[in-house]
Amino acid sequence: MPLISPWRADFPGILALEAEGQTYLDSAATAQKPQAMLDALLGYYAGGAANVHRAQHLPGERATRAFEASREKAARWLNAPDTQQLIFTRSATEAFNLLAYGLEQHFQAGDEIVISALEHHANLLPWQQLALRRQLKLVVLPLASDGLIDLTQAAQLIGPRTRLLAVSQLSNVLGCWQPLEPLLALAQAQGALTVVDGTQGVVHGRHDVQALGCDFYVCSSHKLYGPDGVGLLYGRTHALQQLAHWQFGGEMLLHTDYACATFRAAPLGFEAGTPPIAAVIALGASLDYLNSLDAHAVNIHELALHAELLNGLQQRQGVRLLGAPNVALASFVVEGVHHADLAHLLTEQGIAVRAGHHCAMPLLQGFGLSGAIRVSLGLYNDGADVQRFFTALDQALELLQ
Ligand SMILES: Cc1ncc(COP(=O)(O)O)c(C=O)c1O
Repeated sequence: MPLISPWRADFPGILALEAEGQTYLDSAATAQKPQAMLDALLGYYAGGAANVHRAQHLPGERATRAFEASREKAARWLNAPDTQQLIFTRSATEAFNLLAYGLEQHFQAGDEIVISALEHHANLLPWQQLALRRQLKLVVLPLASDGLIDLTQAAQLIGPRTRLLAVSQLSNVLGCWQPLEPLLALAQAQGALTVVDGTQGVVHGRHDVQALGCDFYVCSSHKLYGPDGVGLLYGRTHALQQLAHWQFGGEMLLHTDYACATFRAAPLGFEAGTPPIAAVIALGASLDYLNSLDAHAVNIHELALHAELLNGLQQRQGVRLLGAPNVALASFVVEGVHHADLAHLLTEQGIAVRAGHHCAMPLLQGFGLSGAIRVSLGLYNDGADVQRFFTALDQALELLQ
């Protein structure tokens, strides 16, 4: 009996793609959206758009209320103690850039920023560029063979010069939960700030920033069944107070004349210009939708589907899995087959998977690869999607091997 997602019909995008003959297995890149989110997006515009935090008129007040209600929902989703600890950015990538610019004065030449070998470019390049600007050292924690950050080596590399640790909760390539608790403890013992990239992890059931105990947590709406154009940055209050303002304009200030200005604290002081109002409001609808589901049932469905995917891959000759994925996705290469050729044949058969370096070029280089195929799952995927993938994979490999 193939696994059936009871939530599939809530996602018009997945049904539309199916009707077109497409099997969508690329949710780690971006997820399809529930009808409730589409309704909220249209509802905001159709009901009369208005800017937020500036107009006293009714549409402006209504937009501001809806926008701030989404902040509350997002803060609750992340279990942030206070809504004021949640900044909306335009992407997860922008949130990392905000941190790297906002914390720049925190560092002195010779200080160390520690990341890991599995980071997405979004959690690598802003720190790499900061290190170049300020003559800092970028330290990279190596991985053990199972794709987990090696804790023994981490204990040696995180030391008194470490001023910041920035690591992923769940790799977008390897799909395994990282041992964050001991890693954060190592950094905190040195008085370093801690940043967690929750962009993938937040989608799969682990989104409690207080339980994690990090200083900053970053994630992205469009992978969380919300619209694109919104990133989320949570910060502990004392950590947010260390951030310098980085984008200027609009309503982020308290007062200005031609000579100088004073600025608001977080979150509004870090949301310069007109924010993505419709998208933030629609994200609130996506979170309402997710909250309406039985989280346990979603988790069981996702794990069962993932097990089917892994079993199928492991049964096929020549398939090499990257790491030891335990949720949501699997990346692989096939002996003697170029990933781009395989991707081409899968695409021709209507299978939408991702091929390439997955914005983690150094990680792929570490495996001796220029690219890999990644299959990633959303809560709307069925066992039939996974079966269609394997049928297409077998046909492609028959041609290529
Ligand atoms: C682990 C991880 N971090 C950060 C990002 C960047 O997210 P965004 O594209 O929303 O800026 C991604 C997106 O793929 C990701 O998978």
